[in-house]
Amino acid sequence: MTILVTGGAGYIGSHTCVELLSGGYDVAVVDNYYNSVPAVLDRVEKITGKTLKRYDCDIRDRGGLERVFSENKIDAVIHFAGLKAVGESTKLPLLYYENNISGSVVLFEVMEKYDCKKIVFSSSATVYGNNPIPYKEDMVTGDVSSPYGRTKHFIEQILGDIYKSDNGWSISLLRYFNPIGAHESGLIGEDPNGIPNNLMPYISRVAIGKLPQLTVFGGDYDTKDGTCIRDYIHVVDLAKAHLCAVAKILDTTGIEAYNIGNGVGYSVLDIIRAFEKASGKKLNYVIGDRREGDLPAFYADATKANKELNWHAEYDIEKMCADSWNFQKNNPDGIK
Ligand code: NAD
Ligand code: WQD
Repeated sequence: MTILVTGGAGYIGSHTCVELLSGGYDVAVVDNYYNSVPAVLDRVEKITGKTLKRYDCDIRDRGGLERVFSENKIDAVIHFAGLKAVGESTKLPLLYYENNISGSVVLFEVMEKYDCKKIVFSSSATVYGNNPIPYKEDMVTGDVSSPYGRTKHFIEQILGDIYKSDNGWSISLLRYFNPIGAHESGLIGEDPNGIPNNLMPYISRVAIGKLPQLTVFGGDYDTKDGTCIRDYIHVVDLAKAHLCAVAKILDTTGIEAYNIGNGVGYSVLDIIRAFEKASGKKLNYVIGDRREGDLPAFYADATKANKELNWHAEYDIEKMCADSWNFQKNNPDGIK
């Protein structure tokens, strides 16, 4: 059984490749290394002792994708490839629409041409926008605050239309909450270019001394300690959810969305404390202004994924922080 993983050299993609290879699947990866490096895939092979097929290819490159499908019998696709920086997307919306939406359309067209109609798509909790918490899959989505979020919403809609036009498709929309942590080997983890936008890589770089100080965005929210609440999920738990989703789509047709989160909300200060405990380091931080576009609190109702995908998150925030720190400590200059 061969799974095509787009964006497989990225943070979540690489952890998913590890689980797929360990689970006995053959894996082909398509990545243009815009936000990753090929060495990540060497490390995936080192962890698993297995090899995967690599294609240095952009998903907007139809000819390149056709080569992948003609050289392999692809049974299903896990589609991670995309740009994900929320702030950047407000400055460069066309880049996000072109890369994420146009790229996805090319991928879906090539899948159709090669009669591969099974896909797991990386969506995001961001599609829920300002809904009451916890978020549930049957809520109205699309009230999003950034072009990035809109690309996720639009791609979900496109996949919905594809299914309506052809009930032979089998589509799983995984709405991730806040992935953090790393593989416990310390070989792969989150390794963003430049100054991180997200909380955990920022904290890790302060702890290792690469950045001077963390600014907590807002201390006056109506939450238990004034800082924002999020549903953090260990990236290995998230990777495993993809295997559950693949098993399901290989067996069925239809389109379903699933929340992939722990169902527990932690504040920014909770994360700082847990990280300090896991790393034994005191974090230098200040409480600053709110960040535009941040919602005060959201977390998942993951009951549907628990029941229908038979998926359950295993790891707590202590383990998430310990593994993030282990990765940072072992790779102070990132993956080269
Ligand atoms: P990442 O940037 O680490 O991985 C994405 C990978 O896709 C990178 O290796 C990048 O080089 C590749 N890529 C980007 N555009 C491409 C293109 N046109 N052709 C081929 N490859 C391309 O990001 P991640 O954190 O692993 O996220 C994976 C997916 O999950 C993304 O679609 C992201 O939007 C989604 N997601 C991420 C989060 C998060 O917090 N990390 C949350 C929700 C959803
Ligand atoms: C987490 C919390 C910040 C950095 C984003 C996307 C979402 C999804 C996950 C892709 C927030 C606070 C952060 C810092 C801070 N990605 N923070 N200081 O914003 O919840 O979600 O990533 O789909 O769509 O919007 O994640 O890690 O940026 O922030 O205080 O330097 O940490 O305010 O409360 P976010 P994050």
